[in-house]
Amino acid sequence: MEARLNINGNTVKVNITPEEHLLYTLRQNGFTEVKSGCKEGECGACLVLLNGKPVNSCLIFTASILEEDKLLTVKGIGDLHEPHIIQEAFVDTGAVQCGFCTPGIVLASYALLKENPDPSEEEVKIAMDGNLCRCTGYVKIIEAVQLAAKRLQKK
Ligand code: FES
Ligand code: FES
Repeated sequence: MEARLNINGNTVKVNITPEEHLLYTLRQNGFTEVKSGCKEGECGACLVLLNGKPVNSCLIFTASILEEDKLLTVKGIGDLHEPHIIQEAFVDTGAVQCGFCTPGIVLASYALLKENPDPSEEEVKIAMDGNLCRCTGYVKIIEAVQLAAKRLQKK
């Protein structure tokens, strides 16, 4: 069946099956910045924002998404040529190593800073609770989120 999804501000027509998960749909249609990890809702690699809220796309049926719903992948907030302040802060603090977790973590940070522009370390940890990173030990990630918060406040 055909579905229309609003992804990063654009309407995208996709062909889906009723049992297809959003992670699969996104990657099949070129949104490979959304990473496929555990596919069980445990790692956060596949995290996207659905109407501004972080969701694990491996757990959502594409058919349940409405045309008016707004999906955001990490490329919707910035890319290599025009990075978002959060993405720059991740690079500047060395919070990106293999980068597999980064799209999900950057989006979780984006959602957090929209709601809470000056999070404490504890609040950052809680917001990142569903995102696993096997490389950084999380310290640099927390630093990156707090640096981004400072820079966004000065903007
Ligand atoms: S791939 Fe979706 S949470 Fe791990
Ligand atoms: S940077 Fe490698 S998993 Fe996070």
